[in-house]
Amino acid sequence: MTIPTIINFKSIGSPELGYISIAEQQKDVPFEIKRAYWTYYTPQNVERGGHANIDKELVLIALSGSIVVTTELQNGEKKEYKLNKPDVGLYLPKLCWHTMKYSHSAVQLVLASNEYSKEDYIRDYSTYLTYNK
Ligand code: TYD
Repeated sequence: MTIPTIINFKSIGSPELGYISIAEQQKDVPFEIKRAYWTYYTPQNVERGGHANIDKELVLIALSGSIVVTTELQNGEKKEYKLNKPDVGLYLPKLCWHTMKYSHSAVQLVLASNEYSKEDYIRDYSTYLTYNK
């Protein structure tokens, strides 16, 4: 996949029992999951992200609360997504500039295709626009 894409995970259960959703690598998530991390307690006035990853694909999931994600590709295509269901994820391809804003007490799970590396980040927007693979 080369563009941001919404993923609808299976949701098994009922209103009486509650639900379970599953993310399997190369099936529900289109890459091998190398790392999972989560962000929480982000104040509502804070915008996170503001970067692109050179060699990392991500899936973002709002496990709780809601998250507004903006995405931008190098061709200038911009989109905004509101994640507010725990069975919905947003796939971000490599080199996708993105920002996130969180509702009060939102918890975001991130599934990543690669390990953390400081060098993998482009945090300067003008560098991003001119970055050549
Ligand atoms: P960052 O990826 O910029 O978070 P967000 O996209 O939610 O704004 O990471 C925030 C800080 O955490 C940054 O200083 C790098 C550090 N970090 C790690 O040390 N290890 C990790 O695996 C990740 C994802 C981030």
